[in-house]
Amino acid sequence: MFPEDLDLQLHDLLHWIDATRPTRIAVIMDRNTEKHCLPLLTPLLPPHSEFLCMSVVGEPVKSIEHALALWTQLDHAGFDRNSVLIGLGGGTITDLTAFVASTYLRGIPFWLIPTTLLGMVDAAIGGKTGINLAGGKNRIGTFQTPTGISINPHFLQSLPHRQMAAGCAEHAKHLLISGAIDGLEETLNTFLKEGASAEELGDAILQSVGIKAHFVSEDLTERNGIRKTLNFGHTAGHALESWAMEENQDILHGEAVAWGMQVALKISASFTAEDGGDQGELLKALSVLKANFPAPTSIPEPEVLWPWMTKDKKNHGGKVQMVLLSQPGKARCDVQVNFEQFRDAVLA
Ligand SMILES: NC(=O)c1ccc[n+]([C@@H]2O[C@H](COP(=O)([O-])OP(=O)(O)OC[C@H]3O[C@@H](n4cnc5c(N)ncnc54)[C@H](O)[C@@H]3O)[C@@H](O)[C@H]2O)c1
Ligand SMILES: [Zn+2]
Repeated sequence: MFPEDLDLQLHDLLHWIDATRPTRIAVIMDRNTEKHCLPLLTPLLPPHSEFLCMSVVGEPVKSIEHALALWTQLDHAGFDRNSVLIGLGGGTITDLTAFVASTYLRGIPFWLIPTTLLGMVDAAIGGKTGINLAGGKNRIGTFQTPTGISINPHFLQSLPHRQMAAGCAEHAKHLLISGAIDGLEETLNTFLKEGASAEELGDAILQSVGIKAHFVSEDLTERNGIRKTLNFGHTAGHALESWAMEENQDILHGEAVAWGMQVALKISASFTAEDGGDQGELLKALSVLKANFPAPTSIPEPEVLWPWMTKDKKNHGGKVQMVLLSQPGKARCDVQVNFEQFRDAVLA
């Protein structure tokens, strides 16, 4: 799960298959990754591999119905504990594959091949699996480390620019919480410019993976709080995302998080008088985010979003708690924030 175990070029997967000779192999994907990514993988896999393409794309695939369909297919096909599932796709496919593998026969090996930037820098890293319940995202899941992860930046060539920008938001988050913001503007450019080389992309992705792995390794099952830092930008971000889902508005997770980080930075900047933080650095980071991540066009009034803020699963005793920064690289978790502070930041 950590950078040194990452296989940028898929070789480790082939060696692992050669060494362990799994009884069955199934690649789980959606129709986009079947079209754009599978052709790179198929020639490398043994002939008895099976290919399971999910019938839907995006968030709806993370449902108990799709998990059940996969469990049933695996069972009928005779998958056993020496079989392996390979998740080839964005965060939705890797979350579903990991969840199904971690629960089928009490857990069989799985290998993740993220094909979106968000998947490479975030979703496939950290050992969380999950599906959604009608009532909310990722309500059902397990903590389970994959046997391996292969990150191949070539897959990003077919990724739509909007998805690339959404993944960039999580990368920016990693740089902000780790304090590595000197490179913020430059790496956002690398990801968002046409024709960035696989090497350039690979370096930036590895940096992000290293940062996420650092926060995760200290708090694998989210018990001692350090992992909470990764929620920077996600309280307001999730509120906007949940509102958008309910209202059928088209806002991607990364777009909501990019906006949520701007809200969190503004609130953070307003706290510096009391926490001794560095307002100048926070505002500098804010202006880089503003320049690279324009706010979604359909943001409702703060009054409409506030009830969603109060539903966040990280709240305590009904009070809204956010991750703030006193400066880049120095996070403060569980800071209580009231409606007026939120409203002022949204409207600023
Ligand atoms: N487990 C975790 O720790 C964790 C962390 C962050 C996010 N997530 C989850 O990740 C999910 C979001 O992931 P995502 O943004 O990758 O979304 P996604 O899986 O829906 O992928 C986005 C879109 O890109 C398409 N696509 C994927 N790879 C492609 C490629 N190479 N070329 C062309 N199209 C491609 C997909 O088919 C989809 O339409 C959410 O469900 C979120 O909860 C999980
Ligand atoms: Zn996120």
